[in-house]
Amino acid sequence: MATPLPVTITAGAEGPWRITGITAPVGASLLPAARLVVEDGARLARDGAWRLRGITSNLRYTAEAERAALAGVQQGLGRAGATRAALIPIRKSEAWWDMAQDARRDIIEEQSRHIAIGLEYLPAVARRLIHCRDLGEPFDFLTWFEFAPEDEARFDALLGRLRATVEWRYVTREVEVRLARD
Ligand code: HEM
Repeated sequence: MATPLPVTITAGAEGPWRITGITAPVGASLLPAARLVVEDGARLARDGAWRLRGITSNLRYTAEAERAALAGVQQGLGRAGATRAALIPIRKSEAWWDMAQDARRDIIEEQSRHIAIGLEYLPAVARRLIHCRDLGEPFDFLTWFEFAPEDEARFDALLGRLRATVEWRYVTREVEVRLARD
């Protein structure tokens, strides 16, 4: 993990990603928009329907063996064939944040197998986790995934498995923005 990197995501008329759908599995949705751009750095001057910002960070819950397993298979963003993406902003409940780190880890992995399940979908799915709770943003996390069109059905299956876990009982808002680029 390199130095924390601010990231700004703007939906509006511009951007390399075409928005193909916005749904809200839990809580309020986001406004419709045509396109979306992800920019590294804190960007302010760009018109848009909505803008979300956050920052990449260090690992919190991943054990060393899990980190090594992920590092051994995961691929980076921006692969030529990965022309589909999903932006999934997530907010978790106060009950979640009231727990200590070890209790949250127990739910994420020992009870929900988030990392073990996720590993099954690598390297097809490339991802980036962006934190925003400490910035006073409407979401706690912006999760970003890129994959090839032929892996979209598997990505849908991954979403179904994660949403059925104990961890997801603490999700109070989740929006799913699906994207495509040429
Ligand atoms: C593609 C396979 C996936 C893998 C390998 C994966 C792996 C991980 C890992 C290792 C972490 C823990 C990071 C840390 O130690 O702080 C994490 C956190 C997280 N992941 Fe995933 N994940 C995957 C898919 C997903 C999907 C599809 C979603 C959303 C629907 C998601 C949402 C999150 C969120 C919100 C967190 C932060 C949890 C928290 O800190 O409370 N992940 N993921």
